[in-house]
Amino acid sequence: MAARRIPMLGLVFLLCWAATTQAEYMKYKDPKQAVNVRIKDLMKRMTLAEKIGQMTQIERANASSRVLKDYFIGSILSGGGSVPAPQASAKDWVEMITTFQKACLSTRLGIPMIYGIDAVHGHNNVYNATIFPHNIGLGATRQAQTITSLGFLSLTLYSEIMIRRDPGLVKRIGAATALEVRATGIPYAFAPCIAVCRDPRWGRCYESYSEDHGVVQAMTELIPGLQGDVPPNYAKDFPYVAGKNNVAACSKHFVGDGGTQKGIDENNTIIDAHELLGIHMPAYIDSIAKGVSTVMVSYSSWNGVKMHANRRLVTGHLKKKLGFKGFVISDWQGIDRITTPPGANYTYSVQASITAGLDMVMVPYDYPAFIGTLTNLVNQKVIPMKRINDAVRRILRVKFVLGLFENPLPDPSLGDQIGKQEHRELAREAVRKSLVLLKNGKSSNEPLLPLPKKADKILVAGSHADNIGYQCGGWTIEWQGGSGNITGGTTILDAIRSTVDPATNVVFSEKPDADLVQSNHFSYAIVVVGEPPYAETAGDSLNLTIPEPGPSTIQTVCGAVRCVVVLISGRPVVIQPYLPVMDALVAAWLPGSEGQGVADVLFGDFGFTGKLPRTWFKSVEQLPMNVGDKSYDPLFPFGFGLTTKPAAAVQN
Ligand code: BGC
Ligand code: BGC
Repeated sequence: MAARRIPMLGLVFLLCWAATTQAEYMKYKDPKQAVNVRIKDLMKRMTLAEKIGQMTQIERANASSRVLKDYFIGSILSGGGSVPAPQASAKDWVEMITTFQKACLSTRLGIPMIYGIDAVHGHNNVYNATIFPHNIGLGATRQAQTITSLGFLSLTLYSEIMIRRDPGLVKRIGAATALEVRATGIPYAFAPCIAVCRDPRWGRCYESYSEDHGVVQAMTELIPGLQGDVPPNYAKDFPYVAGKNNVAACSKHFVGDGGTQKGIDENNTIIDAHELLGIHMPAYIDSIAKGVSTVMVSYSSWNGVKMHANRRLVTGHLKKKLGFKGFVISDWQGIDRITTPPGANYTYSVQASITAGLDMVMVPYDYPAFIGTLTNLVNQKVIPMKRINDAVRRILRVKFVLGLFENPLPDPSLGDQIGKQEHRELAREAVRKSLVLLKNGKSSNEPLLPLPKKADKILVAGSHADNIGYQCGGWTIEWQGGSGNITGGTTILDAIRSTVDPATNVVFSEKPDADLVQSNHFSYAIVVVGEPPYAETAGDSLNLTIPEPGPSTIQTVCGAVRCVVVLISGRPVVIQPYLPVMDALVAAWLPGSEGQGVADVLFGDFGFTGKLPRTWFKSVEQLPMNVGDKSYDPLFPFGFGLTTKPAAAVQN
């Protein structure tokens, strides 16, 4: 009896094993299958609830394992400043994301979620990450090539011909940023912003590389930096992410975000199709050719039509005409803002946006309302299933291309990438190249820069001289940025102190009075002033003045001592009234955490090579004024920037 039972049992086991392995082979889980095959296989298994879940992105703060599982949530984001804990370490981030991801993987189909974050100048929400210059500074960078063999002639060549755009720098910044983002377990960055800011009154002007679309197009090199280079013969217009050290990118904000009237944020861009396609669209074409994974829609309107409801541009142009195959994501509550006031008719918002062609919605809080509303609209056949399938196919495509199904969990071994020395050196290089020298000496034969390292006593003054938060600007640690030691880095004052000769006495006063300035016999002064940090609408400004005590510090110091003013700002600001009193003026934009780059150039270890990525106006009444305009009467034209030779070249 017992002897007969054993082979029987064996057979039963064998059959069971065969049955389970059969059930367990799911094509979509097989990395050897083609992406399209995997998508098709997975989609035929998905319910409507699972599909709509994929289209839903929620904020970290209201995510939990329960919510992720019950609603089949497809994506989570960190909004500006949204972190697991103040000064969270890479380990804290990795733990949080692992918990979220495990919840998603435990669902019936185990579709991994994609976590996204604004890493817009380095991994800026993360404590002690490397903070690179904001985009406007990168738009100023040029590659200086020194030639040694031409003797006297080389000086001219150095300053004129040999200074070229340097998109390779931006690409390296993308790669470094990707590593730091991955170090926190995150595979997706909401960058680059490829806005072409046509009016500096816009509070997001610093997120734009330039008023010139050609510069913005060149700077889309951030995309292959973040995602890796699209290999030759790779499917055209397909999203591409090379591997585990890269992240999916997001070109934003589609389209015309930088063209709104008076630079009012989220407002109306009133231009004809010719201008829209000629100025604001080109960098999207570059982005797609470089395999960008996602595109974010703009809050703004084009000729009165909200972009979040613009089917002609999102579906007709971006998806059909340009052939974009990644997914289109809304902006934060972007669909709510289709109506005035926001959320006034949420059903309409959902209908209009999904019909327009949006694939994923950055809800980010009221997901039951979004999911419930969209489900009803599909059940009532207001939104066709075809549209839902297109959205989900695109989202899954990016997830497969990203390798999320194979590697859904964070790699804890990358922790030491955050703020590492090599990245800080790269940021320092970017700072050096981003500086634009606007004035050097009251007459051309008395240049003040480069400054001598050896002097008896020098004065460093101004609100922005010793403030990491101020030199980083908005989108740093907090959404709006902050003041003081909000994260690691080198202030400009620290940098000056470590650059000058040990015998030079450096006196620092944030707001020196006339007495201090006049009684000290300073050899020269460095005044560092500018705009306080801001982000988005809070940065809109109709007057573009730098607040007090900036102007009075300039007057007090420069009225009495030879001075260079280092301006920290997200855009050109009103400077003409103070220009005569200054001996030298440097536009340093928002340089980020590595203030050493400023000192490197002020003291001549490197030459000035940066060129204005924007037109510098005389008065705000002239705005908008961009290069190529019929009446163009700038204080400093687009492309302007004086040069100095690096100390090494001077010695040669
Ligand atoms: C901004 C986007 C950003 C998103 C998420 C929005 O307010 O417009 O640029 O990616 O928030 O933080
Ligand atoms: C978030 C940002 C977002 C903004 C939109 C803020 O509360 O932190 O990420 O861009 O809201 O208005």
